[in-house]
Amino acid sequence: MSRSWPRRPRLCAGNWKMHRTAPEGAALARELVELLRARPGCEVAVCPPFTALESVAPALRGTGIWLGAQNVHWERQGPFTGEVSAPMLVSLGCRLVIVGHSEWRHGMNEDDATVARKLRAALGEGLTPIVCVGETLGEREAGRTAEVLVRQAQAAYSDLSQADSLATVVAYEPVWAIGTGKVASPEQAREAHALIRATLDRIVGAGTGERVTILYGGSVNPGNAAALFAEEEVDGALVGGASLEAASFWKIAVAASAPREQLRAGR
Ligand code: PGA
Repeated sequence: MSRSWPRRPRLCAGNWKMHRTAPEGAALARELVELLRARPGCEVAVCPPFTALESVAPALRGTGIWLGAQNVHWERQGPFTGEVSAPMLVSLGCRLVIVGHSEWRHGMNEDDATVARKLRAALGEGLTPIVCVGETLGEREAGRTAEVLVRQAQAAYSDLSQADSLATVVAYEPVWAIGTGKVASPEQAREAHALIRATLDRIVGAGTGERVTILYGGSVNPGNAAALFAEEEVDGALVGGASLEAASFWKIAVAASAPREQLRAGR
């Protein structure tokens, strides 16, 4: 089997969303592999659409780049037309899966309870769930950011063991920053990440928060990545638009690999 998932790794994960056919995905993966030939000092993952998983997997084999999916159903099998289960993802070589993305929470009315079920289904098959949480613009402007983040984290992690919690990754993705070109400031990301860590400590047990990888997501690009990664709290990024170009995703991965002192000095 492949490498095991490291403890609180720095991670740069690409969320391709509904972009790239199977052959296009394989080509993008090969480009990325070429650029990342000298393996960067962070973990790297790509999450293509379901239909490109099978073509991307061979391009990544043996490269150290992880394969992830963008969604998963909570049941292992059954009458769920159009859905894909965790064992199906594992059989294609997936190691990670995104759950609770805002495009599901807000675009498809996915509720906290459903996110919790998907998270457990992923863990049950040995997948690392990337659990997305984040407030809308209205919630931020109403001063409700903390309340929303705590509620989402609480619903996802309540009754989860510490071992299971440590096998997850959190992505703080303010909804107002996703695909909008408006990025959260490093201070906003730091505050949110610290709150999520404190919430995990409270729900799961002391010492949990500091051991979980927390990514920032929302309009990350090669120009703003370094300032975000300079924050001790920010362990990497979930990258949408900028992951569709191998060169920009590679630059973000390089920034996520740099020592924090170097990133701070460059600010
Ligand atoms: P974006 O998307 O980088 O295009 O804003 C991030 C995400 O939705 O995960």
